[in-house]
Amino acid sequence: MACRICSGRLRPFADFGRQPLSDAFVVPGDPGEEFFFRLAVGVCESCSMVQLLEEVPRERMFHAGYPYLSSGSSVMREHFGSLAKRLLATELSGPDPFVVELGCNDGAMLSVVADAGVRHLGVEPSGGVADLAAARGVRVRKDFFEAATAAAVLAEDGPADVVYAANTLCHIPYLDSIMAGVDTLLKPGGVFVFEDPYLGDIVERASFDQIYDEHFYFFAAASVRAMARRHGFELVDVERLPVHGGEVRYTLARRGARTPAPAVAELLAAEEAAALSEPATLRRFAARVAHNRDRLVTLLTSLREQGARVYGYGATAKSATVLNYCGIGPGLVPLVTDTTPAKQGRLTPGSHIPVRGPEAFADPYPDYALLLAWNHAEEIMAKETGFGRAGGTWILYVPEVHLV
Ligand code: SAM
Ligand code: TMP
Ligand code: ZN
Repeated sequence: MACRICSGRLRPFADFGRQPLSDAFVVPGDPGEEFFFRLAVGVCESCSMVQLLEEVPRERMFHAGYPYLSSGSSVMREHFGSLAKRLLATELSGPDPFVVELGCNDGAMLSVVADAGVRHLGVEPSGGVADLAAARGVRVRKDFFEAATAAAVLAEDGPADVVYAANTLCHIPYLDSIMAGVDTLLKPGGVFVFEDPYLGDIVERASFDQIYDEHFYFFAAASVRAMARRHGFELVDVERLPVHGGEVRYTLARRGARTPAPAVAELLAAEEAAALSEPATLRRFAARVAHNRDRLVTLLTSLREQGARVYGYGATAKSATVLNYCGIGPGLVPLVTDTTPAKQGRLTPGSHIPVRGPEAFADPYPDYALLLAWNHAEEIMAKETGFGRAGGTWILYVPEVHLV
């Protein structure tokens, strides 16, 4: 098996077996066959990039019915709003600035840029969420970003000061075409800023549910720096972010254009000290994951034997890996609640648990709630105080199975 970045040899370290598409929520009674693929991860022996071994065709994941909404969390709306304001005050403060966002989704970030009257473009292949962004005044091109798209955008709009992507770059196996596109589109002194789940946090917290079809790469400073250099770019800044269970925001600039911030060398040194991308470290991660799965299944099985009712909270894409890898179906968890309209009334992929709106959670409250959206724990627990008052208990499985 060859690395998608450098063709080096991939060393597999975790295998979750046959898994469905994480965002393919099933219409009840629909006889259509679900698509399954082999979900397994490996690390490149040459460039240290951690990646999936099997690639799902992009049109199967990102299409008009793609359900995920960036604005579904108030914390994330706030997060993107403050990033937009920071970019407007720094990189976008020159004459007639222009920013392009890859995977702008429903416009959580770009709507703030649009409101400020600054030139922008969202490149978003999923038609439904792109329409939501457009309805908020965001200029959107319904397309996959790649080298050809960048050339078309350059011809129409001219070069960009900033290309930005959140939780999107790690979804794209064809990074060579993306980097060629960024090179085409960026002004000589421009920056490519992207933020994605951080391998360091995933390994530290054993958050194996970050591994699913859409998350093709698991970035670290070392692997991103190597990838950037292949395309004439340098990693010039890194910033750790608390959102989505731990992310890093990477800033790339053309080689020699900017002096790297001290944070880059610091994070590289920390990764080195932790032997983050060493096969032994990653194998230990895989062993913890298998242990946590056994603990979770044992807990849910004993709760069922006691007659306790357990609902899932948040039909996240991540939950597809947890539910299917642990073999959790409607027998253990009869319902998952979620605020996303396009998920409600459907069944979770592969595990076929009915998804209902938030009102179903309180009608009446279950005894336990399996927090599948654990990355939004603070926001959700602050909102669901009635559950605690009714005697309810949260079940978390990151970094290990525990009750709150
Ligand atoms: N940026 C938003 C956020 O952080 O909440 C959305 C993240 S969502 C998990 C990933 C988005 O990337 C989807 O809306 C998907 O349609 C989009 N996407 C996938 N491949 C893409 C590509 N090649 N170019 C641009 N967007 C892409
Ligand atoms: P994410 O972890 O990929 O951001 O997905 C979060 C999912 O959880 C998404 O489907 C929306 C759902 N959700 C709720 O149901 N209630 C909430 O309060 C929050 C923040 C998210
Ligand atoms: Zn490689």
